[in-house]
Amino acid sequence: MSIQNSIGTAVVTGASSGIGAVYAGRFAQRGYDLLLIARDGKRLADLSSTISGKTGRKVVALSADLTNKPELLKVEDRIRSDKSISVLVNNAGFGGTKSLVDSSIDDLENMIALNVTALTRLKAAVLPSMIEQKSGAVINIASVVALNPEALNGTYSGSKAYVVNFTQALFETLKDTWVQAQAVPRVSDTRNPLDFHRGDRSHYGPVCRCGKSSSVPGAQKIAESAAALRRRIHMDAAQPDIIGEP
Ligand SMILES: NC(=O)c1ccc[n+]([C@@H]2O[C@H](COP(=O)([O-])OP(=O)(O)OC[C@H]3O[C@@H](n4cnc5c(N)ncnc54)[C@H](OP(=O)(O)O)[C@@H]3O)[C@@H](O)[C@H]2O)c1
Repeated sequence: MSIQNSIGTAVVTGASSGIGAVYAGRFAQRGYDLLLIARDGKRLADLSSTISGKTGRKVVALSADLTNKPELLKVEDRIRSDKSISVLVNNAGFGGTKSLVDSSIDDLENMIALNVTALTRLKAAVLPSMIEQKSGAVINIASVVALNPEALNGTYSGSKAYVVNFTQALFETLKDTWVQAQAVPRVSDTRNPLDFHRGDRSHYGPVCRCGKSSSVPGAQKIAESAAALRRRIHMDAAQPDIIGEP
């Protein structure tokens, strides 16, 4: 168990599973307290006590549906007034495997609400305090489909293209401040989320399979998009997508 002082609070949206749960664990290992957000309060509470038990960090679970405007506004109020927040990971998001024509319009609207609107509003809630304190980071989870619109439905790829453009603009806007902005291109496999939760390096093969697995449909195209996206956001080819082990 860690006894070091906190170096701030990391807010992670969509922390109850997958990539968000990995970010939560990694930031706690690095000495951050956590504010974890997702809809499933039970999963969040379980993860919070696991992380807290392992790291000794303070972990607060906040159950909220970020596509629900009143709930989103409550989350904004909560994080706007918390000066300890030094990192925001805008991770909550979802895609969908149905074609654009077959997709439910309500699902597509929710996708935009979560992947685009919530991400944008939460950034706006934390940024003034970070700029004032001359420190902080906003990490937005994108996807290689941002540059590969034929894959999946156009709403998902469009929402992730937004994340990339938005983060690039944010990066430029913040260049004279000490606040950082990062877009993360990811192709991962969350079919076995429990293994993914543990952040076990042996699962990094399938998790970070950009361009490595020829068994993935369209793998070559995805690999090309991933490489192009990494070039576009100035990410070194060897740099891991997700923060590494502490
Ligand atoms: N997996 C991939 O291959 C891949 C590739 C590229 C990019 N990404 C992106 O990476 C991010 C995380 O994906 P993942 O694969 O880790 O997915 P995941 O395991 O399904 O996790 C999504 C998280 O978002 C939360 N969430 C979903 N809807 C929400 C809502 N309305 N309000 C609040 N929280 C909500 C979920 O928790 P609750 O259900 O408890 O709310 C869950 O914690 C997403 O932005 C995704 O687009 C994933």
